Amino acid sequence: MELWQASAVGSDRAAVNLLSHRPGCLAGRGLTLREWEQGDLPAMVDLFDESDIARRTPLPSPFTLADAQDRLARAGQPDRLLLAVTADGRRPLGEVLLTATGELGYMIGKPHRGLGLATRALVLLRDYAHGAVGLAVLRLKIEPDNDSSIAVAQRAGFQLGRAAAEVVEHKGRRCVLDVWEHILPRPSGVD
Ligand SMILES: CC(C)(COP(=O)(O)OP(=O)(O)OC[C@H]1O[C@@H](n2cnc3c(N)ncnc32)[C@H](O)[C@@H]1OP(=O)(O)O)[C@@H](O)C(=O)NCCC(=O)NCCS
Repeated sequence: MELWQASAVGSDRAAVNLLSHRPGCLAGRGLTLREWEQGDLPAMVDLFDESDIARRTPLPSPFTLADAQDRLARAGQPDRLLLAVTADGRRPLGEVLLTATGELGYMIGKPHRGLGLATRALVLLRDYAHGAVGLAVLRLKIEPDNDSSIAVAQRAGFQLGRAAAEVVEHKGRRCVLDVWEHILPRPSGVD
């Protein structure tokens, strides 16, 4: 069965791949995406204790050192990949994430926005997810008024999917999330 024929099969395989094959780091486009480390916790707080991240993501607000420790523990779980976005492999500037079900996400620290970091990091992780992990369908969930996130999704080749928007509650706020998709191109010559 081809990958693009069944995203459920792709997703099962992805869970196994995320479990057994963690990349350590992904490099390209002037970035190194690497695993979070214990020494990053204060930097994580500096990056994530911020109003846009509080509003647009499920992260706790305020985001404390204890929350950073929890996130590091979550980063080690086998069904997800949480990678620090860095320019040089050292100082974290943000995060990209991938789940075994093919959902991606991103957040960049406020001082580092507008430099193309989210777009480049998303493209790196998108290609890894389609390639090494074997996920045929990737999804982003974005509020319709999150213009910068929509710009990132479009720059990385995602399109608004046909699935109905999802409604979730984050920190007592009702959020409508449009589902954006990136689908592995169908191999040429295959119907
Ligand atoms: C969304 C976010 C990750 C973007 O990070 P970033 O590194 O600044 O993004 P990029 O620099 O790659 O910008 C991509 C595009 O968005 C555009 N953009 C940035 N802010 C914008 C805004 N407010 N309105 C419209 N476009 C915007 C940029 O100009 C760029 O387009 P360009 O290449 O044509 O110039 C960052 O703003 C963030 O962390 N926000 C809070 C968390 C969040 O919303 N995460 C996504 C949840 S779905």
